[in-house]
Amino acid sequence: MDQNEATSASIHGLRIGDHAPDFAARSTTGDVRLSDFRGRWLILFSHPADFTPVCTTEFVELARMAAEFERRDCALMALSVDSLFSHFAWLRMIRDRFGVEVRFPIVEDPTLVIGRAFGMVAPQDSDSATVRTTFFIDPAGTIRAMTCYPANMGRSIPEMLRMLDALQAVDAQHGLAPANWQPGDPLLKPPSQKLDDVYAARDASAWFLGEAGKARRK
Ligand code: BEZ
Repeated sequence: MDQNEATSASIHGLRIGDHAPDFAARSTTGDVRLSDFRGRWLILFSHPADFTPVCTTEFVELARMAAEFERRDCALMALSVDSLFSHFAWLRMIRDRFGVEVRFPIVEDPTLVIGRAFGMVAPQDSDSATVRTTFFIDPAGTIRAMTCYPANMGRSIPEMLRMLDALQAVDAQHGLAPANWQPGDPLLKPPSQKLDDVYAARDASAWFLGEAGKARRK
C-alpha cells in the first residue's frame, strides 16, 4: 500500500489515489477536456451558484492569487450548474465591481453529469447545486487530495496554496508533511518499519529528513 492508498475517505465514491474521471465541457475559456491538463497540476473545484456572496469572494481572491498557482505550474478549473452565459455575466460583474479578471475556465454543468461523477452534488440534495468540493489532481491525473466545504463557508485560498505546496514538496523530497507544515519547513521521513530503528532514534529530531534532522539533533 502506498501513502496515497492509505485513506478510505471518499467524496461520494472518489478516493485519494483514484484517477480523476475525464470529461469534456464548455467553459468560459472555450471547450475544455480534463485530460488535456495532464502534465500539470490541476485544482478542479465546484461552487454552489454564480452571483452568490461567498462564491464571489472566493473567485475574487482566486483571481487575485492566480499568478501564485501559475508559478507552481497548477491550472485552476471551476464548475457549477449555471449556464455559460450566467458565468460570463458574473465574471463581468466581478471585473466591473472588484477590478479583477477571472481568466481560468469555469465549466457549465447544467445536467450535473460532471458534478455527479465527482461527487460534487449531495445525492439527497433537492436544489441540485454543487457543494464546495476541491480536487487536487497531480500531473499524472491522480486525485491527491480533496476537500468539501459547506455552502455557507468560503475556502481559504492560502490553504489551497499550502496544500499544493505540501503535495509538491512530498513528491520532490519523498517525505511527509507534518502538522502545520509551511513551505520551507522540513519534511518528515516515512515512519520506521523496523523496531531496531525505532529504538535507535534518540529523539524526535530523527524523524526529520536530511539536514533539518541533523540540525535538530545538535
Ligand atoms: C454563497 O456563495 O454566498 C452561497 C451559495 C449558496 C448558498 C448560500 C450561500
